[in-house]
Amino acid sequence: MKNEDVQREVILAKSAGFCFGVQRAVDTVYEQAEKNDGPIYTYGPIIHNEEVVCDLAARGIGVIHSEEELARLNEGTIVIRSHGVPERIYRLIREQGLELVDATCPFVKKIHRIVQEHSQNGMHIVIIGDDRHPEVEGIKGWVKSSVSVIETEEQAREWTVDPSVSVCIVSQTTFNNNKFKDLVEIISKKSYNVICVNTICNATGERQTEAAQIAEKADAMIVIGGKSSSNTQKLYEICRSRCNKTVYIQTAADLTDSDILESRRIGITAGASTPKKIIEEVQKNVRNGF
Ligand code: F3S
Repeated sequence: MKNEDVQREVILAKSAGFCFGVQRAVDTVYEQAEKNDGPIYTYGPIIHNEEVVCDLAARGIGVIHSEEELARLNEGTIVIRSHGVPERIYRLIREQGLELVDATCPFVKKIHRIVQEHSQNGMHIVIIGDDRHPEVEGIKGWVKSSVSVIETEEQAREWTVDPSVSVCIVSQTTFNNNKFKDLVEIISKKSYNVICVNTICNATGERQTEAAQIAEKADAMIVIGGKSSSNTQKLYEICRSRCNKTVYIQTAADLTDSDILESRRIGITAGASTPKKIIEEVQKNVRNGF
């Protein structure tokens, strides 16, 4: 079948792309770059998107990858990205005499405050999320007592706590809502006093719900996002479970799957760190038959 023979319908998710927190962080870095006021660094890549990170590098904005690297700096501005950082990083930035520009997403900041307050009151904190994710690393760094990170049902079942210890459960903002509920149910049976604050961000929930709705009616589904973006990976899982022909791409150039091209109804969604430009390019290529 020739590409032009296919009457193609493209459904682009309204919630595809940058969420409020990421847009705010990216804008903050570009504003700092405009000021041109000495060296600027982001603490970790500002978002999980190689194109944006390369563009920033071309504007002379560096990336700090570790606390050790930060400890060697004594001049410049450090921008904290939307994921947030542990409290000790704020201290280190100040001790080094560096300027601090905080672009932590307010929804993540709220989690920092919750875990700080409840742990100060002696509660054990449980974070539902991926222990290796920088956001979780940041949240852990605001806990004043003890903390556990749980990501799977198996971990939740194996997890033990003295039932007399009060437990406060929060979530990584990008965690899957249904999985979160399942894990909370298991954990809640282990202590007499459990407070659970669902800190999953609406932007993620809305994006996931819309992606699921589109994937259910689409013949093929395209999920766009950086390789290491956890929210894009989750979007992919959600779409894949509803639509067999789901592909995960980073840019329009990765779109080479002819199976997708032969589909009539193609859905498109994108993770929170995917720039609008890339989404538009993919959409254009799909409409024009690549
Ligand atoms: Fe913030 Fe939600 Fe985005 S927590 S960074 S607005 S996914």
